[in-house]
Amino acid sequence: MRSHYCGQVNESQIGQSVTVAGWVHRRRDHGGVIFVDLRDRDGLVQIVFDPDAPSIFAEAERVRSEYVLTVTGQIRRRPEGTANSGLASGQVELLATAVTVLNRAEPLPFQLDEEVREDLRLKYRYLDLRRDVMQRRLLLRHEVTRSIRRYLDDRRFVDIETPMLTKATPEGARDYLVPSRTHPGEFFALPQSPQIFKQLLMVSGFDRYYQIVRCFRDEDLRADRQPDFTQVDIETSFLSQTDIMTLMEGLIRTLFHDVLGVDLPNPFPQMSYAEAMRRYASDKPDLRIALELVDVADLVADTEFKVFAGPARSAEGRVAALRVPKGNDLTRSQIDEYTAYVGRYGAKGLAYVKVNDATTGRAGLQSPILKFLSDTAIDGILSRTAAQTGDLIFFGADSARVVNDSLGALRLKVGQDRGLVTPGWQPLWVVDFPMFERDDDAKRWVAMHHPFTSPVNEDPVALASSPGTAIAKAYDCVLNGSEIGGGSVRIYREELQSAVFELLGIEVTEARAKFGFLLDALKYGAPPHGGIAFGLDRLVMLMTGADSIREVIAFPKTQTAFCPLTEAPTAVTEQQLKDLHIRLRPSVTVGSG
Ligand code: AMO
Ligand code: AMP
Repeated sequence: MRSHYCGQVNESQIGQSVTVAGWVHRRRDHGGVIFVDLRDRDGLVQIVFDPDAPSIFAEAERVRSEYVLTVTGQIRRRPEGTANSGLASGQVELLATAVTVLNRAEPLPFQLDEEVREDLRLKYRYLDLRRDVMQRRLLLRHEVTRSIRRYLDDRRFVDIETPMLTKATPEGARDYLVPSRTHPGEFFALPQSPQIFKQLLMVSGFDRYYQIVRCFRDEDLRADRQPDFTQVDIETSFLSQTDIMTLMEGLIRTLFHDVLGVDLPNPFPQMSYAEAMRRYASDKPDLRIALELVDVADLVADTEFKVFAGPARSAEGRVAALRVPKGNDLTRSQIDEYTAYVGRYGAKGLAYVKVNDATTGRAGLQSPILKFLSDTAIDGILSRTAAQTGDLIFFGADSARVVNDSLGALRLKVGQDRGLVTPGWQPLWVVDFPMFERDDDAKRWVAMHHPFTSPVNEDPVALASSPGTAIAKAYDCVLNGSEIGGGSVRIYREELQSAVFELLGIEVTEARAKFGFLLDALKYGAPPHGGIAFGLDRLVMLMTGADSIREVIAFPKTQTAFCPLTEAPTAVTEQQLKDLHIRLRPSVTVGSG
């Protein structure tokens, strides 16, 4: 139907006859002449309807916004002074000689250039996606997957699909379950990741696997989390942790070079988990923000200020200081706001010291807690934080978990509020994760990455004797404070895998029931293997500068895991439930449709 895309029309076609097809972006009636900006995925072209051609002009008078047209006409240079340098086709216009209205459109529920509520955007997502910014985001997403595939294909990775109707994979979230009609009372789980299958493919000898694959996790949603999201899932055999990381940061570097023309550092810096927590109170530090925490527990352990002394003397406690350069100008109410902010992360307060003069010790300081601090403590705090005149120092004192959660978040917030975010890209590998975390409520160990991750020391006896200090061969890829990928070297011997299950409190029978097929596979010649999965949505979110992964997913769900477009999830009929051998609890109603 068309000879050219609207956005491809330019000066090179002047004098030619072309046919374009697309949507009426705007129609302007200029007393006698009608202008229509016609839009397609490549952009806009201005079409002129001249009253000298009455039948075409009459048709143009009837068109409205978002009508679908084809137009044939002559490309001509726009008159002096009417060029639009903001458009690729801005030097020219198309003088219509024929027009066909292929379809009409009712007035849209919102204008494409207007700011609208997200639920409305999602309800009419197909219209929202007409917007230039959304088109550019999804096209960039395509460039990203193209670059990733090219990189992996060139390095002999094989794209293999794995099942969606499967068995639970332990990635730490709740499963989405699918009831079985043919096996009454039994359920499939949608994969939280293809983790076990990709390991089995290594046992099969495929050596290098990848898949751009949907994963399903029923978890609390945030700006960077969706219930179904996409991983670039990768597994390799016979490569060391260093080999894998080198290959994988090459993927990210190539991607940024190909798609954004950005050259990321080579190699990516690496930081241990312990150092990341100590300096940034986060396992995904945003290195664009130079603010750092320092520990001061030893300086305040003897104070009579219980708020500090308690955590300072406790093995699980942490007392840390965060210096805000030139933060002395923070008002009482701003400090109160920050106190409320850290409260959301469990902090019971936010002590601070204003540094009016850094050279005179106690006399130069201003703080409600000054009276509790010894001169030695004050001197120590000032020198450790490298405080300057005009600064402010915040303090967190609580369990290490609360201090890290609250000061880690405060560090980012203060950094953003005070313009302390250096523009650019800061990739980082976080390595040397602990194998296990203690779940105090359940009084048991949980795998920090997942239970198939190898410890650095592969001796099952050594592991069992001190699980709390065992380090994992796990690595997270962090970019600008966002965890874009995580992976590990896997356990490939059955004895060690069984030992880890046991440490995690998974009984032998339970381990057989859940992962028997993996344990069996490890007995039949499993090669050393390891891999990673990148969060594609997060990567594209960062690369497009979007503030939520919903902005880079064609049909996303809301924060409550609801799709306003299809209204999924929906109730189902009694018959469907019956076929699936399911009866709902009395409080839940059955659909009528
Ligand atoms: P992990 O659970 O760390 O590892 O997930 C890998 C990456 O997937 C992204 N991600 C998400 N993105 C959007 N919404 C979500 N709900 C969500 N959850 C995770 C993150 C994360 O870094 N099987 C292992 C990988 C491996 O060991 O090879 C796994 O799934 O960017
Ligand atoms: P209070 O003695 O409760 O009035 O607290 C004195 C100062 O310590 C206030 O500035 C509080 O915000 C702060 N504070 C209280 N609890 C904590 C805590 N757990 N960590 C850091 N500061 C705190």
